Amino acid sequence: MTTHANHFAQDIRLEDLWDDPYPIYRRLRDEAPVAWVPAVGRYLITRHADVVFAEQHPELFSSREKDSLVLKVMGANMLREDDPEHRKLRAAAEPPARPRRVKTDWSPVFQRTADELIDSFADNGEADLFADFAGPFAATNLAHLLGLPQVPAADMIRWSQDMMDGNSNYADVPEVWDRALAAAGAVEEAVDETVRRLRDEPDGSVISSMLHAEDPPTLQQIKNNIKVIIGGGINEPRDVLTAGVWALLTHPGQRADVEADPALWRNVFEETVRWISPIGMYPRQTAEDLELSGTSIPAGSRVALVIGAANRDEEVFPEPDRFDIHRAQRNYLAFGGGPHFCMGTWVARHEVGEIAWPTLFRRLPGLELDPDADRAVETGGWVFRGLLNLPVRWKK
Ligand code: HEM
Repeated sequence: MTTHANHFAQDIRLEDLWDDPYPIYRRLRDEAPVAWVPAVGRYLITRHADVVFAEQHPELFSSREKDSLVLKVMGANMLREDDPEHRKLRAAAEPPARPRRVKTDWSPVFQRTADELIDSFADNGEADLFADFAGPFAATNLAHLLGLPQVPAADMIRWSQDMMDGNSNYADVPEVWDRALAAAGAVEEAVDETVRRLRDEPDGSVISSMLHAEDPPTLQQIKNNIKVIIGGGINEPRDVLTAGVWALLTHPGQRADVEADPALWRNVFEETVRWISPIGMYPRQTAEDLELSGTSIPAGSRVALVIGAANRDEEVFPEPDRFDIHRAQRNYLAFGGGPHFCMGTWVARHEVGEIAWPTLFRRLPGLELDPDADRAVETGGWVFRGLLNLPVRWKK
């Protein structure tokens, strides 16, 4: 790494990452692919090949980060465990999220959610698809999948946000802890209610799957895993949903291609999660001294696998900043790449790519961005990145 590159990494500011991380990532990949960034307090790993290496070596890049704030808010859970503990928790929770089960069990539920939400605003001729559709759609579907159909979407969204704020409360703001721990407590109560119902009458939900697994987790482990899934299972589908609609509304040629050939919705999904990865980075901790792309990283260091940068690595994706549903390369890392590969991949693919988008474009004829909206479309974030609003209109 040159001194010049060192200075660049030293000076990276969180607000710039939040506004538009991609020019910063490009420079990091070129000049300092493994860089200590003081503002983040981690080494940022930005090249595709290096992130893949880290994912293939969980014995070097542990998910058990010491003093992780996630543990403080949610308690021990699969995301912050290494194998074999991780594998046991994951095996108990995963069956309802497998591709066949998503199609048979959840597809009708997701379709009903989409139709009911659209019914609620179709006659208005305009909506903010972020607040009026994407958030409640992801939250309602997740509540059903988990076995918490009694919980309203607004509660799911609030609990998720409050716990996530706690997970990143590095400034140690007491009010943020209070909200995060209150949300975690509310999730625990909701799980207790569901467990009472499912003890003798299993159903197809994630809580039921854990409760009746061959090697079942403890009740506390079930609660902690449900917290982590609520924390991580709403924003990402919401954000890919709005980003994909926005991408198509601003790329009319590709929109026409999809409308002519619905099989291309799958491509839209794959390209959208690559282009604006809803999770931009996730943490690991090095288990021993190692060297990566010429930089030494001491044992016990905090690192970030910056998949938002890896997914725009020009070594793998030509013209990476361009949205292109006809791209051949699919080895993106938006869902991770190792033992923690996202458990909800097929849920998200199905609910967004096969249900939400085709239903929206079919039921809202002439869908377009609303040029008269008070607020133009805004995008933000780097740990999580997505649209902050999506004002649209259509022909009534
Ligand atoms: C487009 C939507 C989504 C994206 C981009 C996404 C992305 C990710 C990523 C990058 C990871 C790995 C994190 C790490 O290794 O530290 C992950 C893990 C996980 N995701 Fe997702 N996710 C999405 C939707 C969902 C949904 C809908 C659910 C709920 C069913 C879900 C549940 C999980 C779980 C439980 C894990 C932890 C898996 C493990 O530790 O083995 N995700 N996700």
